[in-house]
Amino acid sequence: MDKVKFAIVGCGSIGRRHIAVVDAEPNATLTAISDINQNVLVEQSELYNNVPHYENYEDLLKTVDCDFVNICTPHYLHKEMTLKAISYGKNVLVEKPMALSVQDCEEMNNAAHKAGVKLYVVKQNRYNTPVRLLKQVLDTGRLGQVYMVKCDVLWNRYQGYYDESPWRGKKSLEGGALFTQVSHFIDLLVWWFGDVVDATAHLDTQSHQIEIEDCGNASIVFDSGTLGNITWTTSVYSKNYEGSITIIGEKGTIKIGGKYLNKIEYWDVEAWPLDTSIEYTDKPNLYGKYQGTSSNHPFVIEHIIQNFQQNSGEVVEGTEGIRSIKAIEMIYSRAKSIMK
Ligand SMILES: NC(=O)c1ccc[n+]([C@@H]2O[C@H](COP(=O)([O-])OP(=O)(O)OC[C@H]3O[C@@H](n4cnc5c(N)ncnc54)[C@H](O)[C@@H]3O)[C@@H](O)[C@H]2O)c1
Repeated sequence: MDKVKFAIVGCGSIGRRHIAVVDAEPNATLTAISDINQNVLVEQSELYNNVPHYENYEDLLKTVDCDFVNICTPHYLHKEMTLKAISYGKNVLVEKPMALSVQDCEEMNNAAHKAGVKLYVVKQNRYNTPVRLLKQVLDTGRLGQVYMVKCDVLWNRYQGYYDESPWRGKKSLEGGALFTQVSHFIDLLVWWFGDVVDATAHLDTQSHQIEIEDCGNASIVFDSGTLGNITWTTSVYSKNYEGSITIIGEKGTIKIGGKYLNKIEYWDVEAWPLDTSIEYTDKPNLYGKYQGTSSNHPFVIEHIIQNFQQNSGEVVEGTEGIRSIKAIEMIYSRAKSIMK
């Protein structure tokens, strides 16, 4: 079978990871890269055998023969760039969050459908070992009724993380911490327990000079009837403390956590004792001064290749990716801001 041809737009923290992952994937070819930052662009091109590079991504779309365009630019560009790539007949893999509004996601899905191309969203946490195991337990009904779920994203982002970026911390460009730090967690919650049908929330900005919240708390209801609570912050002192989900079920209690859902912290399930001889811990993406979430991008690329070529693989298409944006939009729309 032919190798699948990828072009990467945006060579920042996560774009560089896409480039490395595509380059290492035996069934993929890296065909071109784009970034408006000339230094980063040339450096990345030289690192990867002088792969063709474009400062203007439209020039890439016009001239490069590729199956996929990976959109790895800031959130506010996801919709515009996805629509443009689709207009050139390209399939798209867009980084999370899919976009900054439900309406934008709908436009992206409609355009992909109309053009007959694929639109996938990066949700690499779905491949985390503890997450996969938990999904099996839920799918086989071993927890019985799930009463409650508690999600804690208690992380540190230093002020420079925002100051050194032209888009982070800005309301119109980043949207809020739910889109950036919490969207992976919300994706898992709606995947497991259904769409969010009700919410109340409070937001505050306690420790950063930014336009968005750095502390938030939401009480939510899923359409399965499960009650949920999400507590999130980027204000934890010094370093990431915890990224966890605790599930309270009729026949079991599970907490998956560590700093980024990479570890099983607690497991007490009547019909599924934990096999302790297995290693369940995943590794994080490292971005210089801060740690991100899990480093499972190779699985994302591997599975979309399978899906694209053989209609198999576990993937998140745009029609699924929109669900976490619906939940985020609902939480923000119900939130009371107590920002000074
Ligand atoms: N899946 C994950 O765990 C994960 C992790 C990190 C980031 N992300 C997502 O990836 C996206 C990018 O985040 P980041 O941390 O890499 O940001 P970043 O600021 O480090 O990188 C963004 C890059 O896009 C480039 N860019 C901006 N406008 C452009 C344009 N018009 N054409 C080409 N390039 C352009 C910038 O120059 C920069 O190099 C965000 O949406 C973020 O949520 C996902």
